[in-house]
Amino acid sequence: MTAASMDLDQELMKAEVESVSSDNTVTSGTNGNVQVVVRVRPPSNREKDQGYIKCVGVDSVSHSVTLNYRPQPRTFTFDYVADEVVSQEEIFAAVGKPITDACLQGYHCCLIAYGQTGAGKTFTMEGPDPESNSGNSPGFAAQSKANAKRHEKRGLIPRILEYIFQKMSSEKSQSFKDVEFVVKCSYLQIYNEQVSDLLDPASLNLTIHEDAKSGMYVEGLQEVVVSTAEATYGVFRRGSENRHVGMTAMNMESSRSHSVFTVVVESQRRNEGGVMNRRTSRFYLVDLAGSERQKHSESAGIRLKEAGSINKSLSALGNVIKALVDISEGKIRHVPYRDSKLTFLLKDALGGNSKCTLIANVSPAEKNIDETLSTLKFAQRAKLIHNTAVVNEDMFGNPAVMGEEIRRLRLALAALRANMGSGSVSEQNFTPMNQENQSETSRISRLEHIISQSTKRSLEAEQKLQRKINELEGTVKDYQEYIHRLERTLQYSDYQRADGSDSEDDH
Ligand SMILES: Nc1ncnc2c1ncn2[C@@H]1O[C@H](COP(=O)(O)OP(=O)(O)O)[C@@H](O)[C@H]1O
Ligand SMILES: [Mg+2]
Repeated sequence: MTAASMDLDQELMKAEVESVSSDNTVTSGTNGNVQVVVRVRPPSNREKDQGYIKCVGVDSVSHSVTLNYRPQPRTFTFDYVADEVVSQEEIFAAVGKPITDACLQGYHCCLIAYGQTGAGKTFTMEGPDPESNSGNSPGFAAQSKANAKRHEKRGLIPRILEYIFQKMSSEKSQSFKDVEFVVKCSYLQIYNEQVSDLLDPASLNLTIHEDAKSGMYVEGLQEVVVSTAEATYGVFRRGSENRHVGMTAMNMESSRSHSVFTVVVESQRRNEGGVMNRRTSRFYLVDLAGSERQKHSESAGIRLKEAGSINKSLSALGNVIKALVDISEGKIRHVPYRDSKLTFLLKDALGGNSKCTLIANVSPAEKNIDETLSTLKFAQRAKLIHNTAVVNEDMFGNPAVMGEEIRRLRLALAALRANMGSGSVSEQNFTPMNQENQSETSRISRLEHIISQSTKRSLEAEQKLQRKINELEGTVKDYQEYIHRLERTLQYSDYQRADGSDSEDDH
């Protein structure tokens, strides 16, 4: 074990002890922190056949997971924990719905499934393997009984898509709202540090770029505009099939690749005053490569470079998380996002303007106890990252309308501030008050953000208008001079004509 990894282990032990507070209550869920969920899958038939011993216990009240590790059991606390009986619907309600709501409010979001191969990442994100049921998609069309069962077992991605389109359609159906939505999706894979487009199998080795305004993007990645949940899920399935076919054809192992399905939601609303509000949010849905590869390569003592080539992105993810945790604790650190394709692509999602939820999937079997411990440690560390997500919105309108909107927003902000400052807090009311304060504080920072954005827009519009006025004034001045010159020329020719006729008279 290297000195660095020993340090890390000690820090984790410390975090572990600290996170299990004396009353065993939830310690996370703070605004802005990466939300971490642990899901334990049921034992597989193979595990049962091979003398299954359960080694993981889940306490849904204290949100903790206890691993029967020897000589001492280890307990970790998370934002939400799910045992083997928790259904896909419950996972969606607890994990999928809140993050999708944030996406619809205009936040960039990221949902990542982490864990060893076979721990349930794909089941959680997508649902049961479609291959296991004559190729029927679990997402939609529950006609037969078997299909109905598969439909019930569909994972987070189809449910999230259904929810996005449901919410958009219910907002649109409220006739007083003037709102337009555009939804786009793309699907990529990172295998051996190469990014390929799963919607266009001929597009291999794509490059990731960073744009100051729009953030990270992949050059040449196909983006498909979609108008229903079914169509979006169809695009996702098409990409997953391409992944499967490509992997088999090239004799590659799918558990070594990362897949990123991205949904972009753009909305444009016009309020009563005529101001346009435009929001864009990006939602990354990430199914990571099996985490055990990295550990094996490390434990086998393979040199860093070789270990990196096995799955550079996964080891880089661990390092990025370590650096981000240090930063969240006030230390100054360089974050090595550029060390891998995955961390560079997810730069904003991991350490910036994004709401991020990590689902750590684990097996319940004692046979996998070391992998499970390593997954729980990774998840515990990720919980300490603090992100600052803001709503990605812009406002448009003419300067007078914008000025009025800014005045209205400032009044709303002042009212919010006054509201926060008033009222005494009894001990009994402290928790709800505290929660209310947190939500008021986040509303205040949202309002401040909107005001600063709209002030900027308004200033830009005013400057643009001023430039136009100056231009017009310049043109008017030119014309005036031209007219003036014409008048003088006319006067001169009149004078000459008069002069000419005088001299004719003289003859
Ligand atoms: N919560 C669960 N309930 C029922 N079956 C599950 C659950 N999680 C995983 N499985 C099953 O376990 C197997 C491995 O899961 P999978 O999602 O493919 O793992 P991973 O993507 O992490 O490699 C699959 O057959 C899957 O259907
Ligand atoms: Mg999988």
